[in-house]
Amino acid sequence: MSEWAIAIESVSFSWSAQSPVLQNCSLHVPKGQFWMLLGTNGSGKSTLLKLMTGLLAPQSGQVNLVQPVGFVFQNPDHQLVMPTVGADVAFGLVAENLSTAETRQRVQEALAAVNLLHLQRRPIYALSGGQKQRVAIAGAIARHCEVLLLDEPTALLDPDSQLDLVDQVRQLVKTRGMTALWVTHRLDELNYADGAFFMEAGRIVESGDPQRLKQRMMAGAVRG
Ligand SMILES: Nc1ncnc2c1ncn2[C@@H]1O[C@H](COP(=O)(O)OP(=O)(O)OP(=O)(O)O)[C@@H](O)[C@H]1O
Ligand SMILES: [Mg+2]
Repeated sequence: MSEWAIAIESVSFSWSAQSPVLQNCSLHVPKGQFWMLLGTNGSGKSTLLKLMTGLLAPQSGQVNLVQPVGFVFQNPDHQLVMPTVGADVAFGLVAENLSTAETRQRVQEALAAVNLLHLQRRPIYALSGGQKQRVAIAGAIARHCEVLLLDEPTALLDPDSQLDLVDQVRQLVKTRGMTALWVTHRLDELNYADGAFFMEAGRIVESGDPQRLKQRMMAGAVRG
């Protein structure tokens, strides 16, 4: 077995021949770690995550992720489809053909992991933004995802919910042995990461210590 949960090797992708989005892009995330992906607007972060989920296929290069993979969107209203918290988490399990008892047990365990068990019967519309993001994460936990990909999950959250969510994902990674890759523009979130990448024009131009990246970004050495 490889030491990587996510291994991207020289991936290229373009929507049209004139404008390549990813160019020989490589990125590796070790198993059981929480890494962040930063970069300028339009540098290709969301495209890279879509390649990781299989929503898009690369024109060249290799994409390898330990399965199953869960995805959390920037806007939870684009992700949560059922009327209540418990029904939404259970909906993600439909393809697994579990018994009713097993489904209930998986849903409860996943909601407990994100501290939302008490809201199991709550309608989705009556949740805060941070709670909705935790329901989306519970969906991935219920499916027993090994890898969690999050594309700017805190973009719509206030600062308190933002730091609660990043702290919770860090704890899930550390206690459950999951691996997470988190896209963000917010430098204070780097304090929670084991490592970070910086992307520019379709490739990773910096990777490693999140504090070093934070300092370089604050000093304007790399553009955020
Ligand atoms: N469906 C699409 N069709 C054509 N071009 C696209 C499509 N989606 C994205 N692009 C282009 O691909 C490039 C990379 O976009 P992407 O969304 O991956 O950037 P990003 O790094 O996630 O940016 P942001 O920080 O704004 O979220 C951009 O130039 C964008 O305009
Ligand atoms: Mg994006």
